[in-house]
Amino acid sequence: MQFFRCQICGDVFIGNAAPSNCPYCGGKAKYLVPVEQWTDENLTVTELSEISRKNLEKALQLEVDNTPFYRSASAKAGTMKLQGVFKGLAKVENEHASVIQKILKCEFPPPNPVNSTATGDDSENLRIAHEREIEASRFYAQSSVQATEARVKKVFLALSEVEADHIRLERELMQA
Ligand SMILES: [Fe+2]
Ligand SMILES: [Fe+2]
Repeated sequence: MQFFRCQICGDVFIGNAAPSNCPYCGGKAKYLVPVEQWTDENLTVTELSEISRKNLEKALQLEVDNTPFYRSASAKAGTMKLQGVFKGLAKVENEHASVIQKILKCEFPPPNPVNSTATGDDSENLRIAHEREIEASRFYAQSSVQATEARVKKVFLALSEVEADHIRLERELMQA
């Protein structure tokens, strides 16, 4: 058994080989390092620029809203497949919220009830999720460019890549 730790979320994966993506935050394999090589990159962030703080706060709210949205979509799903997909996505978005919260060193804001409740229609939930992931991926890519702190740049880029994976997944599901 080997121990791999994610440079984005800090969680540890135990297995025979590194997975293709972090099972917690969805970060790509390039972010998974042997535990002894892991460094706490959040320590490099001593002061946040105004733009990074603003973008991180917006991102945190987005993830805090998406988590219960996916949970509720999972609870209402009409198929076992979508129940599992939405459950998995809820976990990942919850992890994204804690990645961001650790940089901001703040409390979790309460979810916005309007954005955090799914409809009773699987196709509609997939459509809403797909739109949100497109917006999130675009916003994170832009926030990565705007960030002056190396850590914030890296985290936003990694999250943008994960949301892009979700966009592809949801597009496939919508076409199925
Ligand atoms: Fe991770
Ligand atoms: Fe996310």
